[in-house]
Amino acid sequence: MTELTTRWLELELRSPLVVGASPLTDDLDALKACVEAGAGAVVMHSLFEEQLVAEQMAAHRFIDSRINMDAEARSFFPESEVFEMGSGSYCRRLELLRNALDVPVIASLNGISPGGWTQHARELEQAGAQAIELNLYDLATDPSDTADSLEQRQLAVVQSVVEQVNIPVSVKLSPFYSALPAFVAGVEAAGARGLVLFNRFYQPDMDLDELSLSREVVLSSSAELPLRLHGMATLFGRTTLEMAASGGVHNGDDAAKAILSGATAVQVVSAVLAEGPQALARVTEEMKRRLSGMGYGSLAEARGVLSLENAPNAQAWERLNYARLLHGWK
Ligand SMILES: Cc1cc2nc3c(=O)[nH]c(=O)nc-3n(C[C@H](O)[C@H](O)[C@H](O)COP(=O)(O)O)c2cc1C
Repeated sequence: MTELTTRWLELELRSPLVVGASPLTDDLDALKACVEAGAGAVVMHSLFEEQLVAEQMAAHRFIDSRINMDAEARSFFPESEVFEMGSGSYCRRLELLRNALDVPVIASLNGISPGGWTQHARELEQAGAQAIELNLYDLATDPSDTADSLEQRQLAVVQSVVEQVNIPVSVKLSPFYSALPAFVAGVEAAGARGLVLFNRFYQPDMDLDELSLSREVVLSSSAELPLRLHGMATLFGRTTLEMAASGGVHNGDDAAKAILSGATAVQVVSAVLAEGPQALARVTEEMKRRLSGMGYGSLAEARGVLSLENAPNAQAWERLNYARLLHGWK
């Protein structure tokens, strides 16, 4: 039987299956059920740069109010009903989860500009976070903002968060880098310990009747997994960062594929939101059966077996296969 214990971000996990960042953070009973169903760790939903910056601006406003309190200045503030300001309630939630759950709890920060907000990482560590996941959810919309300037800015954010804390920092990336391995080398040099591959972009659709954007969150399917497998397989052996898959893991074969392409941890969100915490028990069982059937005694034996570095046919990950596939289509 395959041994599922794994070491990820200096944490001993009984299973590589991790509840990824999601609204489940606010549902303690559901999280307890996820742990009962076999989750190895829990990532909280993100605390956004905008929330932290809003708090700083509010402090300035209090000081400035004696001098200048005009309508324009007030309009700079994000709507408080959308974002709760500051890290206070997030840290209280974190403490509660640490006390209530007997698996590691990882806090999540989400931001894109280097600045004072990154200092809040320290509060998360003090509140008991056992690692920090930093989500670099950025969208280039300004034609004068080059890939290089955007990446340098992101690396400065990583370094700035890493400098605040002693716990490991893992960075959640978008799949859209021209040269992912080179950027990942920069993330490693900035002091991060892990990667989460990948963010899912919530691409708004269009509502043609209302002539507006529709902002529904669509849950993933297994069809989103191969992009992650490709990213991890390409990076395995070329970075010391520990990789966690995120996106499209819905069954045991998905999880097994993530491990075979190089993942140390496998995050699951949509499957749990759609099916409930028991999805984790099902995926655990299916993954175990699959890996045992393949003869692996531990996750370490299976990890990266199908990576670019170890694949019997490395071309399958590369351009040549793409050309062959297109020519061979009937
Ligand atoms: C409703 C919802 C809320 C999410 N909130 C966050 C968040 O706060 N921070 C974050 O990094 N990812 C967030 N995610 C993304 C998930 O952590 C995960 O990366 C993504 O859903 C892909 O995994 P899946 O295919 O297992 O759903 C959210 C996803 C969903 C569906």
